[in-house]
Amino acid sequence: MSNNILKGKRGIIFGALNEDSIAWKTALKAHEEGAQFVLTNAPIALRMGEINKLAEHCNAEIIPADATSIEDLTTLFEKSMEVLGGKLDFVLHSIGMSPNVRKGKSYGDLNYDWFLKTLDISGVSFHKVLQTAEKTDAMNEWGSVLALTYIAAQRTFPDYSDMAQAKSVLESIARSYGYRFAKLKNIRVNTISQSPTMTTAGSGVSGFDAFFDYADKMSPLGNASAEDCANYIIMMFSDYTRMVTMQNLMHDGGFSNSGITEDIIAQLTK
Ligand SMILES: NC(=O)c1ccc[n+]([C@@H]2O[C@H](COP(=O)([O-])OP(=O)(O)OC[C@H]3O[C@@H](n4cnc5c(N)ncnc54)[C@H](O)[C@@H]3O)[C@@H](O)[C@H]2O)c1
Repeated sequence: MSNNILKGKRGIIFGALNEDSIAWKTALKAHEEGAQFVLTNAPIALRMGEINKLAEHCNAEIIPADATSIEDLTTLFEKSMEVLGGKLDFVLHSIGMSPNVRKGKSYGDLNYDWFLKTLDISGVSFHKVLQTAEKTDAMNEWGSVLALTYIAAQRTFPDYSDMAQAKSVLESIARSYGYRFAKLKNIRVNTISQSPTMTTAGSGVSGFDAFFDYADKMSPLGNASAEDCANYIIMMFSDYTRMVTMQNLMHDGGFSNSGITEDIIAQLTK
């Protein structure tokens, strides 16, 4: 069902890797809602070619960019304005990766070069995206920029490792740049804190299945799916949320405000 709430809007969507990706589902919905956008991902992720079928379906151009490279980002923003025929109304940063998590390093034995990579890819890249958008003057007034995060920024989830620090950086950038961009151009910047979701990035965290089940039982509405998340993102890109900025928005079925649930008690007293 479409209400065309993004009709006439232009944007960039980072991070669609495969059909499970939150960014992939978001692209499908944005297309359904009348938006025009460019799809982007790191060159290495594009090599698998899966994104081509999404691009075809959405009538979208693919422009490669490593989100840690200012050069790539500058080209991306400049080319996107050319391809889409004007400035942008929305940007989705749906990017996360930790070499320490990927390679199974324990939190007491982190590789610090990798730690810095985690921070750069999963946190600082959001600043790079925002700063490049500002320097290339790529955003329209009242635009909306979003990044995806996880509650491990506030509470400890041991296997999330150095990604917890990256998400804290990411959320802090949304507040600081949100202030700046509001003053400059009435642009809003927010993070959405999403439930555990079965995607490539999600299931890279060890013990993810247990993690997923626990969150599901601790959330009175259950875990929010990738599709639910895409719907929320579309609303945040629409004109219905023009005064929401500098927020970390919980999209987690009630997890973050639950102390304990009957489902968890039932599990523990089995
Ligand atoms: N899956 C979950 O459980 C969950 C929960 C909360 C938040 N999130 C966040 O949602 C976002 C999207 O992840 P997902 O779950 O859809 O998984 P995903 O693996 O489908 O997406 C992660 C994306 O990051 C991209 N990426 C990695 N390094 C990059 C770089 N240098 N430059 C550009 N892109 C790069 C990958 O190619 C991939 O497309 C991430 O920020 C993730 O941390 C995920």
